[in-house]
This record gives sequence, structure tokens and C-alpha cells, in this order.
Amino acid sequence: MSQKIQPPKGTRDFYPADMAVQNHIFSAWRRVCARFGFQEYEGPGFEHLELYTGKSGDEIVGQLYNFQDKGGRDIALRPEMTPTLARLANQLGRNLKRPARWFSLPRVWRYEKQQRGRLREFFQLNMDILGSDSVSADAELIAAACRICEELGLKSGDVVARISSRRLISTLLDELGCTDKPPVYLALDRREKLPRESFIAGLSEAGLSDDGIRRLDALFEAKSLSEVAPLVASDEARAALSELETLFSLLEAHQVGAWCRFDPTVVRGLAYYTGVVYELFDAGRSLRAIAGGGRYDDLLAKLGGERLPAVGFGMGDVVIAELLKDKGLLPTGIPGPELWLVSVDGDETRLAGAAAFLRSRGKEVGFAFGGGKLGKQMQAAQENGARKAVFVGSDRVAADQVEIKDLATGEQTVGTLEAL
Ligand code: HAM
Repeated sequence: MSQKIQPPKGTRDFYPADMAVQNHIFSAWRRVCARFGFQEYEGPGFEHLELYTGKSGDEIVGQLYNFQDKGGRDIALRPEMTPTLARLANQLGRNLKRPARWFSLPRVWRYEKQQRGRLREFFQLNMDILGSDSVSADAELIAAACRICEELGLKSGDVVARISSRRLISTLLDELGCTDKPPVYLALDRREKLPRESFIAGLSEAGLSDDGIRRLDALFEAKSLSEVAPLVASDEARAALSELETLFSLLEAHQVGAWCRFDPTVVRGLAYYTGVVYELFDAGRSLRAIAGGGRYDDLLAKLGGERLPAVGFGMGDVVIAELLKDKGLLPTGIPGPELWLVSVDGDETRLAGAAAFLRSRGKEVGFAFGGGKLGKQMQAAQENGARKAVFVGSDRVAADQVEIKDLATGEQTVGTLEAL
């Protein structure tokens, strides 16, 4: 006997009930994007490998799904959308209307070890603003990320947006004489996941002295912006701090202050961030990050375009779904048609005619094929998630009339197809 083929590791099959959950999340994403005035774009699912190697995120390069195609080209499945977005914007050059507020819901692939909340194939909402230096753009996106959580039924106590600044850490690293920052960011990003010794070893390897590590540690202990002030000396660091202060007052104005918290330990693993960075977590920290993003003002130039300031975040579908499931906020069952036609006299031609009539008027209609006993047909109505049963061809009512039963309340009425 031949063996059943299993799905590849880290992928999901979406049966109708799973798609209902997926669509619930996607439609909340789309609604909030529309409310914030964002426009949708898409790109290819695979790109030239060189779009990712070296330039964008050291962390992600190690997780690429890549191969040579039949023409000998090095190709990678997209592990994230940001490099594609940068490529698209660079292609438009001066024709890009700025600031552009764009969103996308790509399927992305990463060769990662499968864990709770971490898969090899997932969907990721991306919201980005291209062409604005203003910290208002950072605030707009953090506000949008919080509103999405709210749209899905979460409250400010359920989710925390932890916010910091790469610029702040970068200036401190300058003060410490660090010349190669990306490995430091990566080590800092993994700080909580690593044993203390490996974390320190990583920082030393990246060229930080013991004193430098102590100063970074002190920064990481800060619980508020006012605690950071005495720890930084340079004008640039003070500018980064005052930018964060402005950001937090804007977030208050956006009425998402309760969702947001300064947290200097957030640095992000991806190499391209240059300014404000943030990650959204469930308040209990039982899951990995729900979303992450920040400012990346140099990426477009690094990928061959002009310098164009940019901000954005990505929110995967996996972690948010886990959190919604834990909180009992996911829809159950499958959405069915409003009406289920039940043939009383077994006349299938009549049933098809009634269905055609109702469908032509925009109604959602289903019916069992091949007629059969009433009980069987009613069972099919239930199984298909229909909300009302419509009995066609019953001799208890006039020829142009049908009996209608509300399947939730059991209430029965009589009417015409026209009235339905
Ligand atoms: P990221 O932090 O790599 O950022 O991913 C953002 C979110 O995608 C994560 O917080 C997580 O919810 C989800 N995610 C990432 N990897 C996986 C995985 N293996 N399985 C399930 N979910 C995952 C970026 O991708 C940036 N490109 C975001 C961005 C957009 N920055 C600026 N614009």
C-alpha cells in the first residue's frame, strides 16, 4: 500500500474552519489599514537571492529557503516583505508619491525550527510609510498596530507595545567605540533567550570592552526615559531621547498610550533599523512577538535607490491567532449560506429554479443534491452552517409560497421567494 504524503514541516493546511479564522484576522487587518488610509500592494513570492544577502537582515539570511532555478539563477522565497517593498519603491524612484502609505498581506517563508508561534510558512501583514522623516509616521504605525489588536477584541492590558530606539543604542555604541554594530544588535536582541555568559561572550566577540558592556547593561535596566537621561552624553543621544519623548506624547494623542511602554531592551534582530524600534507582546509574555518594526532610513539607498526615510512593521498571523485562541476571541464553526433550500416534493428542477431566483438577487443559497429525506436535508443545512431552512414544494402552503425556519430560534414563517 502506498504511504500517505505528509505536508512539509512548518506548513499548515487550511480547512474551511481554519480559513474562517484566517479571514477573521485578515479582514480586521484590512479594515484597520483602510481606516488609516493605507493602500495595498503585492510582489512576487520569490526574489533574487542577492536582495537578501548582506543588505537587509543578517538574522533572516540564515533562515532563507533558497535554490537555483533551471536557468541557474539564485532564488530565495521571500522571508519578509521589506526588501521587496524597498525594491518596488526604488523602481518608481521620483514617481513614488510621498509619503506612500502601503500595506500588504504576503505569504512568507523562513527555514526555522518549528515551535509554538513559529512556522516555516506564514502570512504577515506589513504596513509601511515611505518618504517621511517625521516621528509622527512612527507614531501612526504603532497606533495602527495597537488598533489592530483592539479590532480583534484584545484590550490594552492584553498586549504591550515595547518601544525603544536603535538610534539611542547606536550612539551609545559609538561612544563605546564599537565599529561593527549589526552583530551587537543581534546579541542584544537575543539577550533574554541566551544564558548570561553566552550573551556577554557575544558582546565581547563583537568588540565591546567590559566597561562598555556594563554601560549597555545600565541602559538596559532603565525603566523610563527619565532614567536614561543621565546615562547618555552626546548630542545625538539626547536627540534620540527627545525623539522618543515626542513619540510617547503622540501615542497619548492617538489614545494608545495605555498600550505602549518604553523598553530599552528592544533592539530588533534585523540589521536595517536606524531609529525608533518596537515589538508587540502578549502581556503575559507566554508567546513570541506578535509584531515588530521600526524606522529603516538607509535600506532603500543600500538596495540601489535614493535615500528615502521609511518606517514599518510586520505582524504575523500565527502568534496573534494563538493569543486570540487563548483569550477565546476566535470565531468557531464555518460561516455558511443564509438560506438552505429543502425540497419537500422531491422536485429538483423546482429547487434549482428557486436557488437561481434567490442567487440572482444576491442571496447566499445552498441545497442538498439528489433530494432525499427531509431529516437528511435538514442535517445538511446544519452541517453547512446555514442560518435558515426554506421548504420548497410543500402542499401546506400556496404554490408561490415557501415555509421558512430560522435554524437558531426555531421560529417558522410563511412567505414568497420574492419576499425573501
Ligand atoms: P520580524 O520581526 O522578522 O520583522 O517579523 C515580524 C513578525 O512576524 C513577528 O513579530 C512574528 O509575529 C511574525 N513572524 C516572524 N517569523 C515568524 C515565523 N517563523 N512564524 C510565524 N510568525 C513569524 C519583519 O519581518 C520586518 N520585515 C517587519 C517590518 C516591516 N519592518 C519594517 N517594515
